[in-house]
Amino acid sequence: MKSRMENILDKPLLGKEDILSLLMCDEREQKKLFARAAEIKEKYVGNIVYFRGLIEYSNICSKNCLYCGVRSGNQHVKRYQMTDDEVFEACDYAFRNGFASLVIQSGERHDVSFVRKISDLLKEIKDRYQGRLRITLSCGEQTEDSYRQWLESGAQRYLLRIETSNPLLYSRLHPDDGNHVFRERVEALDTLKKLGYQAGTGVMIGLPFQTIDQLANDLLFFREKDFPMFGMGPYIEHAETPLYQYKDLLWTEKERFTLSLKMVAVLRLMMKDVNIAATTAMQTLDPLGREKAIMAGANVIMPNLTHLKYRRDYQLYEGKPCLDEEADQCKVCLESRIRLSGNRIGYGEWGDSLHYQKPT
Ligand code: 5AD
Ligand code: SF4
Ligand code: FES
Repeated sequence: MKSRMENILDKPLLGKEDILSLLMCDEREQKKLFARAAEIKEKYVGNIVYFRGLIEYSNICSKNCLYCGVRSGNQHVKRYQMTDDEVFEACDYAFRNGFASLVIQSGERHDVSFVRKISDLLKEIKDRYQGRLRITLSCGEQTEDSYRQWLESGAQRYLLRIETSNPLLYSRLHPDDGNHVFRERVEALDTLKKLGYQAGTGVMIGLPFQTIDQLANDLLFFREKDFPMFGMGPYIEHAETPLYQYKDLLWTEKERFTLSLKMVAVLRLMMKDVNIAATTAMQTLDPLGREKAIMAGANVIMPNLTHLKYRRDYQLYEGKPCLDEEADQCKVCLESRIRLSGNRIGYGEWGDSLHYQKPT
């Protein structure tokens, strides 16, 4: 006879109670969950991991999120913006090494010079590599006009995490200054989809005040909104942030890590053909974090291509790995980790989400 767990894993459509059971399952059941997620991944997207070269373009940010190390209120951060040459050096590395895709991530700024600078960089990248590099932007909430301008300049994908789909929790994680509004976040995601971006979102896992029930709702929100890409990872405290005062309320690192793996696996069961990142934050809490995420259903990794001189200044949380490893060292390291996980790397492939459909 099938166990309760197997019954749930076999369901074609998971409901809220099923999701809760999976997120709360014990260690023995967890193995089955991860094995099933790995099977589904193999069947729908293949045992392929796509590299997205990560460029941490600037840590200058107009926002003040209570969890983030580079929030505008943190006076101890040395602010930087990469030069154009440094950006193209990273792009050249990606191109030469068969990373067919890049992510340009930055603190959120709305001034005209920033919006124009991103457009100029996008156009130059499109020209230099004749459209052969896919570009993902991760530059926060912007106006519809800016999103459109960037799309027309050559970006195809956009990452904007909802952080939590619970408006009350969202308000506890952000200052109440009119500049961090849950509804506006949702609207920004809707706009990205409407414009035709491959839009990615995600949440932090194990935040202070967060419940398993809310995480189950996050997964339902992802399915209902039908995003093609996801990046989720554990919340990791940073001493120079207001949220640090609640560190004694947190689940242990191991609990946050395991819950993050379960979120990846359950999402793979719910949305079989999407792209899911094995995030750097997962490796921060467990030395084998990224390969474990890959074996639980993830299929994207973002190797860091930011120049070493800036890495320390882009610490959203403490303990970020690879602060001193050059791009080449991480490439070799990740190649062997991915091989050990039984996957191959999709060199030279864009790896667009199979779930993405152009708006009609
Ligand atoms: N722990 C984990 N993730 C964090 N982020 C920001 N601060 C932290 C933290 N302390 C994540 C947010 C943001 C992304 C760029 O980094 O989810 O969207
Ligand atoms: Fe800025 Fe993003 Fe950090 Fe918020 S999470 S303070 S928007 S860099
Ligand atoms: Fe950077 Fe292993 S991923 S050294």
